[in-house]
Amino acid sequence: MSGVLAGRRVLISAGPTYEDIDPVRFLGNRSSGKMGFALAAAAVGRGASVVLVAGPTALVTPGRVRRIDVRSAAQMREAVLSALPADIYLGAAAVADYTPRVTAGEKIKKSGEGMVLELVPTADILAEVAAHPQRPGLVVGFAAETGNLEHYARGKLEAKRLDMIAANLVGVPGSGFESDHNALSVYWQDGQRQLGPTAKTRLAGELLDLVAERLS
Ligand code: CTP
Repeated sequence: MSGVLAGRRVLISAGPTYEDIDPVRFLGNRSSGKMGFALAAAAVGRGASVVLVAGPTALVTPGRVRRIDVRSAAQMREAVLSALPADIYLGAAAVADYTPRVTAGEKIKKSGEGMVLELVPTADILAEVAAHPQRPGLVVGFAAETGNLEHYARGKLEAKRLDMIAANLVGVPGSGFESDHNALSVYWQDGQRQLGPTAKTRLAGELLDLVAERLS
């Protein structure tokens, strides 16, 4: 296969995670998975072999992509770490930062009183991949922020020891979660680039061309 990513192994996480409270309830988020799936299709189109670890989503698997379906942050972590080594990791999933301390085995009944749900932090998959003995040559994180985009994105770039971070503003109509369009501000140690606003499919291609550029 020819293309700027020919012979490269690309590992992508996509979608939300669901953290179960009991057999009928969970904590989720508004990630659609569209950006991660678009990245998988664009990577295949550029000659890469692609593993896509997907949280709950109804999206169709792009052609020639090996998809691993997961539900929780813990399952996503397990699947991502098991899929290493890779040349590139794109952490596009909206991984839950917290999960219920216990998942009830039976449906929780209402008591008429208020209730408190105890949450514990999940492992940071992206930071673990970046610190892994089999660290991919390029580790790319994503950040959805409601303001102070560059400040928060660069903070994450450094704190998680990433090579690149693609940040977008959420809470803006026609962009971000659930939308087919988005714009990205991409930052790395000594540079940055603005991509879009455009369709997520096209944005994915532009981001992968930038990734390929930075890798070589
Ligand atoms: N991420 C991850 N594992 C987690 C949480 C996040 O791999 N448990 C990854 C996401 O895939 C994404 C990036 O980290 O690439 C998002 O960064 P994060 O700091 O988690 O963003 P927020 O959760 O929005 O953090 P904050 O609340 O500090 O803004």
